Amino acid sequence: MHKLEIILDQAVESFSDKELLALYLDALKLKELSLPKPLALVFADNTIGLTDLSVKEKPIIVDFLAGKLAHRRQYGGGKHAEAVARACFKDATKAIIFDATAGLGRDAFVLAYLGAKVHMFERNEVVRIILRDGLRRAYQSEQGDFFKEHMILQEVRSIWDYQGEVKPDCIYLDPMYPERKKSALVKKDMRTFHDLVGQDLDIDKLLNFALRSSCPRVVLKRPQYADVANLECLVGQVVAKSQRFDIYRPVKKLD
Ligand SMILES: C[S@@+](CC[C@H](N)C(=O)[O-])C[C@H]1O[C@@H](n2cnc3c(N)ncnc32)[C@H](O)[C@@H]1O
Repeated sequence: MHKLEIILDQAVESFSDKELLALYLDALKLKELSLPKPLALVFADNTIGLTDLSVKEKPIIVDFLAGKLAHRRQYGGGKHAEAVARACFKDATKAIIFDATAGLGRDAFVLAYLGAKVHMFERNEVVRIILRDGLRRAYQSEQGDFFKEHMILQEVRSIWDYQGEVKPDCIYLDPMYPERKKSALVKKDMRTFHDLVGQDLDIDKLLNFALRSSCPRVVLKRPQYADVANLECLVGQVVAKSQRFDIYRPVKKLD
């Protein structure tokens, strides 16, 4: 097993951004984590990236302002082209969505720029650091007001710990896919993320919790090959190229 490394390209004293400093201090608390690979959080160019030191790769960063995600926002085909939005929104574009498995915030971002207010929950401490870092830069940008209104990372790690007043119109779940024999199917740029997070073995717990809540709509993203869970509550599906979005409404009291 390995420990998390923290790599800095500048002296800590020169951190002028208090939030970046707070992220650094929080990252230090994770140094004793046991990891399957020699992973590192790299602080460089005002950005925190996750990288595997045993392979040559570009660190994984969360960037809502440039790159693929921003391009998708600018040139994507809107609500009807985005399967995740078709599954989550129903008719209300101003929906409040709880993204219970926020990860790197990509789905949350798509839902947000199409009009939803997304509250994100993420339990993996290392993932939270890079997600908070992406949000920090987005909040500080010219589009800061948009991001502050539409993308909110909750302090509690999981929806079952949430005690706030917000009532979501939809709970969105995108847990890590069950393992397949051909692990090469995981895209190269996501392998480090998979090595870090592993499998989410409590998907049933998460889905059951969401179906027991008073939320009228629950959406579970699954790979095409996965069986449909909780068939009795399934009310629809949106099928995309390699994934499926199963849509649920709690229709009766579950055991
Ligand atoms: C497949 S990734 C989500 C990717 C995300 N939809 C995106 O677009 O970037 C799954 C994430 O959900 C998180 N997760 C799984 N179960 C969770 C739970 N019960 N509470 C909070 N986070 C959870 C994992 O730590 C992981 O980061």
